[in-house]
Amino acid sequence: MPTFPAYRPRRLRRTEPIRSLVRETVVHPSDLILPLFVVEGTGVRRAIGSMPGVEQTSEDELLRDAREAAELGIGGVLLFGIPAHKDEEGTSGYDEDGVVQRAVRRLKAELPGLVVMTDVCLCEYTSHGHCGLIRGGDVDNDSTVELLARMAVTHAAAGADVVAPSDMMDGRVGAIRAALDGAGFSHTALLSYAVKYASAFYGPFRDVAESVPQFGDRRTAQMDPANVREALREAALDVDEGADAVMVKPAMAYLDVIHRVKEATGYPVCAYHVSGEYAMIEAAAANGWIDGPRAHVEALTAIKRAGADMIISYWARQFARL
Ligand code: PBG
Repeated sequence: MPTFPAYRPRRLRRTEPIRSLVRETVVHPSDLILPLFVVEGTGVRRAIGSMPGVEQTSEDELLRDAREAAELGIGGVLLFGIPAHKDEEGTSGYDEDGVVQRAVRRLKAELPGLVVMTDVCLCEYTSHGHCGLIRGGDVDNDSTVELLARMAVTHAAAGADVVAPSDMMDGRVGAIRAALDGAGFSHTALLSYAVKYASAFYGPFRDVAESVPQFGDRRTAQMDPANVREALREAALDVDEGADAVMVKPAMAYLDVIHRVKEATGYPVCAYHVSGEYAMIEAAAANGWIDGPRAHVEALTAIKRAGADMIISYWARQFARL
């Protein structure tokens, strides 16, 4: 007679080597993408209060951070540009000699093996902080799409491996793909922020990127957090238009969405563990309320377990150093 219970799950939890043998999900540094924020100038390294550990850096300092990321085996870097001059049309965003375009050329020249991705959006470049051209008090879709396509081509020309549109305009994936192909960049990959919610968790990012909307909000473009069927339609649309991989953003509050988008598309899924999600862990850890490193690892593991193939993480370097 076997003693009750026959199956004792705790047997496989007794020691770390045993736990490690049966562990289903392991995050590797190569799964992670590190966001970097580039500003004009040299020798600039500016801390951001709401994002401990995240800095705005000039190109020379950016190169140091990127080199460290490469040495740590991180999967790639994602560049955001903060230009010295902003205007209504966000012209510095699609300037061949813009802050991101120059940084990409430098990174690809000095670290050719590092995967360089760029954020394609106008909100960091417009004086009003919106993601495109304003007509009648709202972002005008089709004229914005034209500018985004121009911007993506300048990033590809600078050598970006992957362009990642984060604006949520309709039809931009197809337009960007066509523009890239037309300009001879059919090899440049397109990671679409297919499923981007109008989230309260982007607050700290807007401090770093200096992209707080000067009026209104982004709810006419970004998705309602209540919707998941719509997420599947958005993802399907972007795949149809030529996206190579699709993003879900934010991550922690949207694990069900990550899972369902992965199942529905079968495409590589990237999850963006966004600024507010990162800052909450950092803030609680700074207060001694939670164990920061354990919470970060648990969060990243959960996001991968949900179905993410790659994760954009402000904690990528700290993770890789563990
Ligand atoms: C730009 C963009 C945003 C983020 C990435 N790209 C901000 C926004 O949509 O307001 C947020 C990233 C983060 O919070 O970490 N459109």
